Amino acid sequence: MHRAIRLIVAAAACLAMAAPAQALDGAQLFKKKTCWACHGKDAKTPVMPNYPKLAGQNAAYALAQMKDIKSGARNNGQTAAMKGVMHLVSEEEMQAIAEWIATLK
Ligand code: HEC
Repeated sequence: MHRAIRLIVAAAACLAMAAPAQALDGAQLFKKKTCWACHGKDAKTPVMPNYPKLAGQNAAYALAQMKDIKSGARNNGQTAAMKGVMHLVSEEEMQAIAEWIATLK
């Protein structure tokens, strides 16, 4: 019985370790989904002085803003510029990008 539990725990640990390899790559998505065209390759050199720097922003806030810009709930300043590309990203992809942004300095 104990052995079986240990096996299950070991199997679960393996799955948990394998997960990041399959996870979406936020850095890749940031390029593929055209985000960097406006926000800069490093997410902190925006193409326009009134576009926001994203590097270092916390993931939960960044994700919420992406969702709101995509849905139109946030509609101010220059959001129209970005809304046009948001059909390119799913919620999972936005999440992955948000987590990547948060790791930047
Ligand atoms: C055409 C230019 C453009 C593209 C492409 C673009 N953005 Fe934006 N983004 C903007 C602008 C401009 C704003 C600020 C909107 C405003 O003034 O309210 C913004 C705002 C944001 C914000 C909120 C920042 C904050 O501090 O509130 C996030 C997060 C973001 N963009 C992420 C992305 C991601 C991820 C992508 C790619 C899927 C993307 N953007 C593509 C122009 C763009």
